Amino acid sequence: MTRIFDMASNAGEGLAAAAAALEAGELVGLPTETVYGLAADATNPSAVARVYAAKGRPTFNPLIVHVASAAAAAEIAELGETGQHLAGAFWPGPLTIVAPKRTGSGIADLATAGLETVAVRVPAHPVAAALLRAVPFPLVAPSANRSGRITATSAAHVAEDLGEAVAVILDAGPTQIGVESTIVGLGDPPRLLRPGAIDPDAIGAVLGRSLAASDDASPIAPGMLSSHYAPAVPLRLEATEARPGETFLAFGAPPGNAGKVIQLSASRDLTEAAARLFQSLRELDRIGAPAAVAPIPQKGLGLAINDRLRRAAAPRP
Ligand code: TXA
Ligand code: MG
Repeated sequence: MTRIFDMASNAGEGLAAAAAALEAGELVGLPTETVYGLAADATNPSAVARVYAAKGRPTFNPLIVHVASAAAAAEIAELGETGQHLAGAFWPGPLTIVAPKRTGSGIADLATAGLETVAVRVPAHPVAAALLRAVPFPLVAPSANRSGRITATSAAHVAEDLGEAVAVILDAGPTQIGVESTIVGLGDPPRLLRPGAIDPDAIGAVLGRSLAASDDASPIAPGMLSSHYAPAVPLRLEATEARPGETFLAFGAPPGNAGKVIQLSASRDLTEAAARLFQSLRELDRIGAPAAVAPIPQKGLGLAINDRLRRAAAPRP
């Protein structure tokens, strides 16, 4: 039986149950400021194996290791000057840094898919931060959805997608940001591996140089498969008119001929649209009709929204 705790009313009991489950090698549905994670002890190979099994995730796709502080991250990854600089500017917060993995880090090889690098992040959400302080190990936490499907942004999504595989779900309401962390690979130059919650221009401003673009063909971000975040219904992007029978996913005023409309943000606010994105894709699935999606500006959070929409619309394997 999955136990779900309402963190608004029952935080102490929820944290204790989650910590005990993690100690026992079980999985916990964990709110972060971006999306819900499926957390497990990053140093326990069989707990990490359970994460891959529960998600149906290919084992060549490595996980993000979540820690309580930049100091804890530095024990796992060689952050170097650039990494420390980024950590100081953006942690705790929705930035993931990919850096060389330290020998003796204790992180299960399966968590990093055998790579010599490791992805680390210090989440800002108070529940995630409290749980990381309550356990004596770092946590892997991929998004808490089936692999390739729509990212989970509420406790109900976690329960729907993963069911009995999760021992405990900590329900802190819908996530605030709604899209995943921005991933930066250290190197010369530092590279944007996944657009996300933090604008790459803000990262470039801190570094004093712009990030190199991500390269989809590169094996360095094995998780960025082209079809991902996929609803069951087909999506038509950059739509300026609606076609008969389609649901219209709008950003601002929908076209006059649109039938059923789901609104990402009536006021064309990218922050609001990001927060509603995955929930809206799930609604499209419930309606079950093909969908048309309005153009979204390619700036700020729009970079992450467009990245997710492109993958959601990509041909399925
Ligand atoms: O906001 C987030 O980052 C959420 C919350 C729960 O923290 N987590 C998340 O995890 O999005 P996941 O597993 O859905 O995405 C992790 C991404 C994958 O694309 C994976 O390939 C990439 O991080 N990644 C992990 N380790 C890597 C590494 N060593 N090198 C390159 N990419 C890596
Ligand atoms: Mg994911």
